[in-house]
Amino acid sequence: MLLKVEDLRAYYNKSHIIQGVSFEVAKGEIIGILGRNGMGKSTLMRSILDLTPPRTTGSVKFDGVEISSLKAHKIAGLGLSYVPQGRHIFPRLTVLENLSIPVTKGKVHGEDLDEVFGYFPVLKERLKQLGGTLSGGQQQMLAIGRAIMSKPKLIIFDEPTEGLQPSIVQQVRETIKRFRDRGITALIADQNLENALDLCDRVYVLEKGVIKYTEQRENLSLEMLCTYLGVVKKQKG
Ligand SMILES: Nc1ncnc2c1ncn2[C@@H]1O[C@H](COP(=O)(O)OP(=O)(O)O)[C@@H](O)[C@H]1O
Ligand SMILES: [Mg+2]
Repeated sequence: MLLKVEDLRAYYNKSHIIQGVSFEVAKGEIIGILGRNGMGKSTLMRSILDLTPPRTTGSVKFDGVEISSLKAHKIAGLGLSYVPQGRHIFPRLTVLENLSIPVTKGKVHGEDLDEVFGYFPVLKERLKQLGGTLSGGQQQMLAIGRAIMSKPKLIIFDEPTEGLQPSIVQQVRETIKRFRDRGITALIADQNLENALDLCDRVYVLEKGVIKYTEQRENLSLEMLCTYLGVVKKQKG
């Protein structure tokens, strides 16, 4: 297993948000953590990465290494990248500066930039533009581009298509599939069920900080996911 999470618990002050979560991600898989707003998806992703919240117990093994007691920068150094919800690029830094942030040692390698531009050619045209002046879709491309600059083994995406136009949603999905073809594994926290149906090899449904259901790709349907999440299926057309 590339990532194995066992009995993870996380708190915000006295609120027990993540209440003993276990799941695993094998190399080459795209795995979804699904759940409605407020169910704990972002908290779960952040606690894996040693971002807030502070108190966690349980085990997180990444590529054979126990990372639950490691600091965030060490975890990133092992090959675990993160595309946070809401993108969080640096608005006052240029596109090039944003892409250079994950490179802590040495200099930015041209071939890594070329790889990013291969996925997102528009970023190459805007290298000197400030991040904050990009469109929402371009900012998401920048956030994803930044995540691959460090040559990760696994990328954690938190709601990667939230608030994006349909054409960009499609582009983000295609990019995640291309990453898989290049050997990058993905863990996606999402409430977009179409993303899950299109991308995921397996999903876990999170409800109030516990995993309620697990389902393999071949069994997935929109109806089932709507039932599991307790949402009403959107009428098409
Ligand atoms: N910084 C915070 N401080 C206190 N409570 C928080 C904080 N962030 C999230 N929460 C609470 O944790 C729960 C899970 O939130 P979150 O992980 O953001 O859910 P999701 O990503 O599934 O929408 C919610 O009840 C939310 O109000
Ligand atoms: Mg969230």
